[in-house]
Amino acid sequence: MVIKLGGSAITHKDVPMSPNMPLIEQIAQEFSSSWNGRRVLLVHGGGSFGHHAAMKYIDGSGKILDPRGMAEIRHAMHRLTSLLAEAFLGRGVPFFAVDPSACFLCEEEEGGGFKIKPFLRPVELVLEAGLLPSLGGDIVISTMGRGRILSGDTIARMLALASSARLLAFGTDVDGYLEGGVPLRKVGRNSLQGIVAGAKGRSNDVTGGMAGKLMEISEYFSSGGGRVLIFNASRPGNVARLLLGEEVEGTYIE
Ligand SMILES: Nc1ncnc2c1ncn2[C@@H]1O[C@H](COP(=O)(O)OP(=O)(O)O)[C@@H](O)[C@H]1O
Ligand SMILES: [Mg+2]
Repeated sequence: MVIKLGGSAITHKDVPMSPNMPLIEQIAQEFSSSWNGRRVLLVHGGGSFGHHAAMKYIDGSGKILDPRGMAEIRHAMHRLTSLLAEAFLGRGVPFFAVDPSACFLCEEEEGGGFKIKPFLRPVELVLEAGLLPSLGGDIVISTMGRGRILSGDTIARMLALASSARLLAFGTDVDGYLEGGVPLRKVGRNSLQGIVAGAKGRSNDVTGGMAGKLMEISEYFSSGGGRVLIFNASRPGNVARLLLGEEVEGTYIE
């Protein structure tokens, strides 16, 4: 299973560099009681750390050219990762941070596009050693020496595909994909295109907010991915239930 902890939940997204410590600690506690060494890949978003740093430096086409900016984004993400690591380790969970910039290659293509190529053997080894691998959204340096943001959502999708995950679960600060303020319970993969158009980005999210997430999910299905869930990671008990293989309130897409 792949669980992504959204920056909307684990940070206060509107306040630069502001972690939601009570929630980080609560989630660490739920891992401590319910994880039990299961094969779980953890991913976390950038929230008010990564997105705040990235917004200062990113250009209109999504590139970061200033070396200082690249380094600052990296450091901002490391700070958030450290806070998670301390909370998990403090409760006996062997949280093992893996740097995405060392296992995802960004190849720039002619015409301005780029391709992300995963090299995930290190992640596999971390998992096989009985650890909880954790990857945060990150900046990766492309083959042309430019910084590109690799979102937690993209990492989660790629990890889920590579590991044929039973479930790809996106934790956010909302109860699922909302329509008229109410979460949809189930969405068929064929109706996904319709709702992608209706979702909005978020001004302080350089990776497209809910709209970007739905695009990742759509890409996941096109490449053969399985079941997806969008759930509220800030509701007590949700992460524990997921870890125990139970159903969680939220939007299941399959
Ligand atoms: N239709 C929708 N359903 C749910 N959330 C939506 C919708 N449209 C926009 N959003 C916004 O998307 C946010 C979740 O996306 P995002 O901020 O990228 O989360 P994360 O930081 O977890 O990746 C929600 O907090 C909400 O403000
Ligand atoms: Mg986001």
